Amino acid sequence: MSHTEKLAQQMSYPPETPQPNVYPLSWHAGTAKLEEIWDASLREAWNPKDLPWDTFNPDDYTWEEREAIAYWSTLLSVFDASAPPVFAEAFIKTYEVHEEDAVRRCFFSVTRDEQNHEQMCGLAITKLLEHPDPLTYEPKTELGRKLHRNASWLYYNGGRYWNGYKSAVPKYDLAVLFSSFLMGEIAAATIFQQMAGGCSEPVFKEAFRNIGRDEGRHMAICMALMERDYPKMDLSNKAIITKQVRAGYLFLSAVLFEPPADFWDLPDDFIEVQRAAEDVARDAGFHIPSYEQKKENWKKAMLNLKGVLDKYDIPFPAIPEVGISGQEVTDVDMDDIIPVF
Ligand SMILES: [Fe+2]
Ligand SMILES: [Fe+2]
Repeated sequence: MSHTEKLAQQMSYPPETPQPNVYPLSWHAGTAKLEEIWDASLREAWNPKDLPWDTFNPDDYTWEEREAIAYWSTLLSVFDASAPPVFAEAFIKTYEVHEEDAVRRCFFSVTRDEQNHEQMCGLAITKLLEHPDPLTYEPKTELGRKLHRNASWLYYNGGRYWNGYKSAVPKYDLAVLFSSFLMGEIAAATIFQQMAGGCSEPVFKEAFRNIGRDEGRHMAICMALMERDYPKMDLSNKAIITKQVRAGYLFLSAVLFEPPADFWDLPDDFIEVQRAAEDVARDAGFHIPSYEQKKENWKKAMLNLKGVLDKYDIPFPAIPEVGISGQEVTDVDMDDIIPVF
């Protein structure tokens, strides 16, 4: 058929639009909980630029402390700066599959929130380092030089998963994606609340409190959708979820616990350097949970998720690193990774 041929001359109504068509012309309501979360996301909106930055003077800290705190923000950014495109991709999927109106809006809100989290990391790094980019920054101390190398390796590792993610999104049901998102959100909500609780610098305290609250909403979105979809879930999805949870554990451990050596491609002294930076940051009043606290957090988050998955008879993977037994999952690689926070 040529472009100039007008169908409207030949028929009263147009032919069916081939599906999936990216835009639903419909606003179906279904999950009331999601309307509540959407409203809360507007009520609780915040602007990183409006935090009490005037109370924060980086010169109160030594360069070693500044580089150590900036390193932690960089570590967070490896996850938070990849979250906006990751959720934007999932947001588009909610349109493609003609999700409920409130589901589309909730994914929009997560994308926006993650943008805020990324912005916050950027503001902190820029002020601490007096440079807007931790990779081209020229370190001023011995620790800073080692941290620069650590940051470069984190960036390299994080960069490996985007292509895998992009090919995973069309392949998997939203139901599978939710379980991957949920584990990131549970753990992120916990760590940010703890960091807010222990932080002595007002600007970071408030930022972490806001981010923790945002992550709590993200968690609630995933839970509401799981409650909606899991009872009628396709059986074949269950095995994929088990594997995804193991993959998510390996990936997110880098920020929420410590990066597992067989999965993350990192230099031998990586952990030693990171721990040294964490000590310096902690002593400067920037509260980073200790190894034991992180382990405890991560274990609790995993058990929390296990509780949810158990309800729907989805086998949980073994996570021997934090003492959780379950189904053995061995063949995980970067292409399997979906989780973000
Ligand atoms: Fe986030
Ligand atoms: Fe999140």
